[in-house]
Amino acid sequence: MRRRGFLGALAGAALTPRAAAFAQGAPVDRFPEGFVWGVSTSSYQIEGAVEADGRAPSIWDTFSRTPGKVANGDTGDAACDHYNRYLEDVELMARARMRAYRFSIAWPRVMPTGEGAVNAKGLDFYERLVDALLARGIEPWACLFHWDLPQALQDKGGWTNRDSAQWFTDYALVVAGRLGDRVNHWAMFNEPNVFAIFGHGVGTHAPGLTGRANCMAAIHHQNLAQGMAIRALRGGGRPAWRLGTVLSVQPIRPAGGLEANRPAAAMWDALWNRACLDPLFLGRYPDLLAADFEPLVKPGDLAVIRQAVNYLGINYYSRLYQQPDPGGLVGTGFGPPPPGVKVTGMGWPVEPDGLTEQLLELRDRYRNPLVYIMENGADFYDWVGPEGKAEDGERIAFIRDHLRAGAEAIRQGANLKGWFPWTLLDNFEWAEGYARHFGLVQVDRSTMKRTPKASYHWYADAIRMNGVPGY
Ligand code: FCB
Repeated sequence: MRRRGFLGALAGAALTPRAAAFAQGAPVDRFPEGFVWGVSTSSYQIEGAVEADGRAPSIWDTFSRTPGKVANGDTGDAACDHYNRYLEDVELMARARMRAYRFSIAWPRVMPTGEGAVNAKGLDFYERLVDALLARGIEPWACLFHWDLPQALQDKGGWTNRDSAQWFTDYALVVAGRLGDRVNHWAMFNEPNVFAIFGHGVGTHAPGLTGRANCMAAIHHQNLAQGMAIRALRGGGRPAWRLGTVLSVQPIRPAGGLEANRPAAAMWDALWNRACLDPLFLGRYPDLLAADFEPLVKPGDLAVIRQAVNYLGINYYSRLYQQPDPGGLVGTGFGPPPPGVKVTGMGWPVEPDGLTEQLLELRDRYRNPLVYIMENGADFYDWVGPEGKAEDGERIAFIRDHLRAGAEAIRQGANLKGWFPWTLLDNFEWAEGYARHFGLVQVDRSTMKRTPKASYHWYADAIRMNGVPGY
């Protein structure tokens, strides 16, 4: 019996109904009918083929080729060679009966110089991918921007230049114009907050800019781009389109639970969570950052940003703990997680109840938007069993416990409608290169062979049960 035996000893004991279900491998939590079971990836992290068919460099090509920026000097040059192996990857999704695939479009494939000329061959690739997905009954969920800005636009200032909002809107219309007869779900951005903070404030991600002013400019211009693009897509769009965006949201707590760290936590919450959520849903920036945004916001901007989205994608990994740090981006820095909390290979605390907390916060603060978990997953060292199979029990436990936390939030009224784990394949994990493994499927770096892990099979069972398997 696959992965069920360890509770067999309990079979005869007096069990609560929940424990009995668990012992039998039956689902302990079920999701509502129509719950969307998918998976997430992003273009630069998996595609490779960075020079194929007219693609021009992105900021991540430049950054990863700069010595010292990415662990082991890794680049996305080959990534998972998904550009050439997408059919195999679609097949992996289909075999697990995934119903939706959230992927991102590489802007430098579609418009190599970022604006103006369109590269039809770049769009052809996404058309082939979309058609392959639809042929296997998988809904394509396209994200327009997952961090790989054309380098040509960075050379004009990238997201620190207010013109970026118009560049993005034009690009969004080009992509939707070509794929919009088959793609209904569109996400404007992936984690504009994280991209701005690490790429423009702290400098550990592409494009490697630093400083508070650059960070705030990148946030405001992405917010504006999102509003402008949604408005433009709505204007000429199709009724079936569902327009949304994806944010990384993490509950922020004072490090050590200390009262003295509370202001630092509030400041980081303003930056990490609210600088994108508040203008989108409430039409204003957080008070703590008012002075930062004041010089950037032109009359009318906030009305453009405040769009009625059809859904909000959220990426949840853990809580974040903050303490004062005079040298930090906004005067704060990361503190340690509470003692005794397990951490992943990335050092991120494993805190499924933080997901319930976050979903309820969205319910209460932003009038309960329709939410999909667009990323949730973990980097763990995969143990290879005697039969050569990747036995990633820690990843299974991670996904299981987070699904339960999601089910709990639904019971408490959160409007959660689907789940897209991060991620299908072990891939290029940004500044960490290939050393980090979040995939449900292993990728052999020399042969590119794909091998599903135990977590892939477990997730397939979750899909089949429309619930959380009780093992
Ligand atoms: C998120 C990113 C995603 C991946 C995961 C681990 O912040 O959106 O691309 O790197 O973290």
